[in-house]
Amino acid sequence: MSKVSIVYWSGTGNTEAMAYYIAEGVKEAGSEVELITADMANVSSLSEEKVVALGCPSMGVEVLEESVMEPLMCDLDGVIGGKQIGLFGSYGWGNQEWMRDWEDRILADGATVVNGEGIAVNGAPGENDAEELKALGRTLAGLL
Ligand SMILES: Cc1cc2nc3c(=O)[nH]c(=O)nc-3n(C[C@H](O)[C@H](O)[C@H](O)COP(=O)(O)O)c2cc1C
Repeated sequence: MSKVSIVYWSGTGNTEAMAYYIAEGVKEAGSEVELITADMANVSSLSEEKVVALGCPSMGVEVLEESVMEPLMCDLDGVIGGKQIGLFGSYGWGNQEWMRDWEDRILADGATVVNGEGIAVNGAPGENDAEELKALGRTLAGLL
């Protein structure tokens, strides 16, 4: 049975909390979900999926985390064409440029950014964020 894979990197747990809310939404919609930390992601199995959610906070100076997530993303660039990709991540003090750049990268890979943009949350997700993230999970499930 097809499932939604949620692949994420999180240093202090904020993006991880977002991933869990998205997973809740997928399950609410009656679909299967797999939460995968970026260090455990298998590019060839992800290449078989139709719908994938990718999460990473803004790190460095408005970039993806560089030791695990960026190398993974470089591998994914070559295999995600045609897929539906949900993007999410937490940030601190910045202007969310990392998310805008990430969306552009997904489009350049020939994939679709679900809802047209990623969900960027300042710090830890609050109640409203949780609802938005669960809704993304339901949307992703509907795309399976
Ligand atoms: C090394 C480092 C670099 C960061 N760079 C940025 C940045 O450029 N822009 C920004 O908005 N937040 C930046 N942050 C803040 C994180 O994005 C923020 O703390 C986020 O909530 C961390 O998410 P996590 O708990 O999933 O690791 C940085 C944090 C660290 C530790």
